[in-house]
Amino acid sequence: QPPNSQMEESCVLKRTDCRAKGGAPGFKVAVLGAAGGIGQPLAMLMKMNPLVSVLHLYDVVNAPGVTADISHMDTGAVVRGFLGQPQLESALTGMDLVIIPAGVPRKPGMTRDDLFNINAGIVRTLCEGVAKCCPNAIVNLISNPVNSTVPIAAEVFKKAGTYDPKRLLGVTMLDVVRANTFVAEVLGLDPREVDVPVVGGHAGVTILPLLSQAKPPSSFTPEETEYLTKRIQDGGTEVVQAKAGAGSATLSMAYAAVKFADACLRGLRGDAGVVECAFVASEVTELPFFATKVRLGRRGAEEVYQLGPLNEYERVGLQKAKKELAESIQKGISFIRK
Ligand code: NAI
Repeated sequence: QPPNSQMEESCVLKRTDCRAKGGAPGFKVAVLGAAGGIGQPLAMLMKMNPLVSVLHLYDVVNAPGVTADISHMDTGAVVRGFLGQPQLESALTGMDLVIIPAGVPRKPGMTRDDLFNINAGIVRTLCEGVAKCCPNAIVNLISNPVNSTVPIAAEVFKKAGTYDPKRLLGVTMLDVVRANTFVAEVLGLDPREVDVPVVGGHAGVTILPLLSQAKPPSSFTPEETEYLTKRIQDGGTEVVQAKAGAGSATLSMAYAAVKFADACLRGLRGDAGVVECAFVASEVTELPFFATKVRLGRRGAEEVYQLGPLNEYERVGLQKAKKELAESIQKGISFIRK
């Protein structure tokens, strides 16, 4: 125990107590993989979120350094660091929301599926911890391949008897963020005015932007549709290539993860009308998991919305997406059941 830990703890207690008395909303959030390329900016942005009262930062490397650094920010959340597997349970106990960006990212030439062998095991271990220590927490899963890691997490939770499909969300927000940005460029608008639903999954052709449902309502030429769809689908690869071996999207991903986590926390607080896209257990198609718009509430993804009307281009895209998704989902399920 470091000498100042007792003082720190009493300070933490005072701050959480004062929050409770003031009636200020405050949620406990853990980031698993907090020292990584995504984890660090994500942790920083969560420390700035007024809905967060306690922020737990867990990693197998460098968690104390990141925690010391972020804990000096003069925002409300109390930050605690946890290093390595023996501290995983302490990191997770009592959490309302667990955000998981742990795992290896892509290098040029790799698909997200190439990450499966390493990341599948990491996600399994972390989710076993969630099932044991905070089975009622909302989980935001970022680790790729999301199309397989979400089914893996679901299987882990089923085995542990804690599975609630509403509380397990694969983060596809970066696809929406990219779609809004690229569509705004084509339309000459401010991206903040644009909202494009992106459905399906989070890899290549499984990423299906529904440009026909973009807000504000807009029409696109066949060339624009093709350009935008491809650019949104390949947005991750664009960053991987530009970083030339130094990783994949981290800053835009941290931004997207925090935008999504904030929506989850507003849902938990009981705000009405919080709707975002996410990869969840779904009956919208014949597949057991699918990304669509969901309404976020106190229990997580309380409502999963239908696809809405698709045009011919999107119907063709949907068939391609479903074919690849079915395989990725099955691969995740088999990893745990085998
Ligand atoms: P990174 O390698 O920079 O960071 C990953 C972190 O996870 C490292 O700090 C590492 O120590 C940690 N880690 C490894 N094993 C762990 C374990 N067992 N427990 C806890 N932490 C562990 O990678 P980066 O760039 O942060 O990417 C992380 C993941 O996010 C990758 O799988 C990547 O493919 C994925 N990703 C997902 C996106 C999405 O839209 N859902 C977008 C971009 C990346």
